[in-house]
Amino acid sequence: QELQMNLEEIEKGGYDHFMLKEIYEQPRAIKDTYRGRLRAAQGIIKMAGVDENLEKFLNANRIIIVACGTSWHAGLVAEYIFEDLARIPVEVEYASEFRYRNPVITDKDVLIAISQSGETADTLAAIKLAKERGAFVFGVCNVVGSSIARETHAGAYTHAGPEIGVASTKAFTTQITVLTLLALKLAKEKGEFSESKFHEFLSELENIPSKVQTTLASNPLVEVIAQAYKDSDNCLYLGRGYNFPVALEGALKLKEISYIHAEGYPAAEMKHGPIALIDDQMPVIVIAPKKGHYEKVVSNIQEIKSRKGKIIAIVTAGDRQVTDLADHVIEVPETIESLSPLLTTIPLQLLSYHIAVMRGCNVDQPRNLAKSVTVE
Ligand code: AGP
Repeated sequence: QELQMNLEEIEKGGYDHFMLKEIYEQPRAIKDTYRGRLRAAQGIIKMAGVDENLEKFLNANRIIIVACGTSWHAGLVAEYIFEDLARIPVEVEYASEFRYRNPVITDKDVLIAISQSGETADTLAAIKLAKERGAFVFGVCNVVGSSIARETHAGAYTHAGPEIGVASTKAFTTQITVLTLLALKLAKEKGEFSESKFHEFLSELENIPSKVQTTLASNPLVEVIAQAYKDSDNCLYLGRGYNFPVALEGALKLKEISYIHAEGYPAAEMKHGPIALIDDQMPVIVIAPKKGHYEKVVSNIQEIKSRKGKIIAIVTAGDRQVTDLADHVIEVPETIESLSPLLTTIPLQLLSYHIAVMRGCNVDQPRNLAKSVTVE
């Protein structure tokens, strides 16, 4: 028993919880994800599983992404990236819904299954269904040799290293990294990108680990904010475009480890219902980086403010407008819009972590949850 305890302490590497260790590992994990694949100086992205099946991707009528939970959120970010950069139509589905609704799939479809564990029962079943109907199936998994990695035609590992905390953190950012590499590669092959734009993306991707590191330095500030909102009963997360899935992910993180009711919404949907919830007791976390619908998010923030909601904003360093309106701001470094989820998600992970710790919750093993869901 004692030996077991000591072993766990060693594995935590000096951190109080695996989740915090894994949050802090992200600069390294993201680098490991693109290491050997991204050659920014030569303008090359090498991904064996894609190179060997390039025609399948280039001839695809559409890409269908299936996943669950946080992996599904990574799929939503990928939808924006694939459509925006590679101009390939994408549908993102919960694996559990996809498998039971008799979906229309043909041999011109590419199905991408995303799973940290590679063992999620619904995702595995969705893969089998798509294969039976002739689709090419590509896996994005973290666990090497997992069932999903074996069941797919080809794939790309995230190389995040073991993720022990039930709340997924580094798996999410590395999944986005792999899917970004894939989208960039297809965009280049399809001629959607000029050489200079491609280069700009590749070199900015190489800057992301150090920008994640910079973002992690907001931890003490996030802890202070957590202290102010730890007793909330509800929380709203809003974002637009690339940062709408980040809002969903922030809300999932908070509810699963702190048991606070949280919902993520596209900011513009607020006026179609959720705005009725806003009063001086409602913390609203708004993801408002400088690029991508900034002015529209500013007006959403004004609407929240006029109803006395408490605003915690994630902004680009140097921001003025949102900073003047919000109750708290957390800055992230500037980057290309499509890479912003890799930064904006970090403070949300930290916020849920600190709130859960302050509420005395079991951060690494929240109640009722398992690391991999191998039953439906
Ligand atoms: C995330 O924090 C979760 N605990 C959960 O939603 C998870 O992402 C989901 O169960 C999917 O798991 P997978 O990536 O291993 O397939």
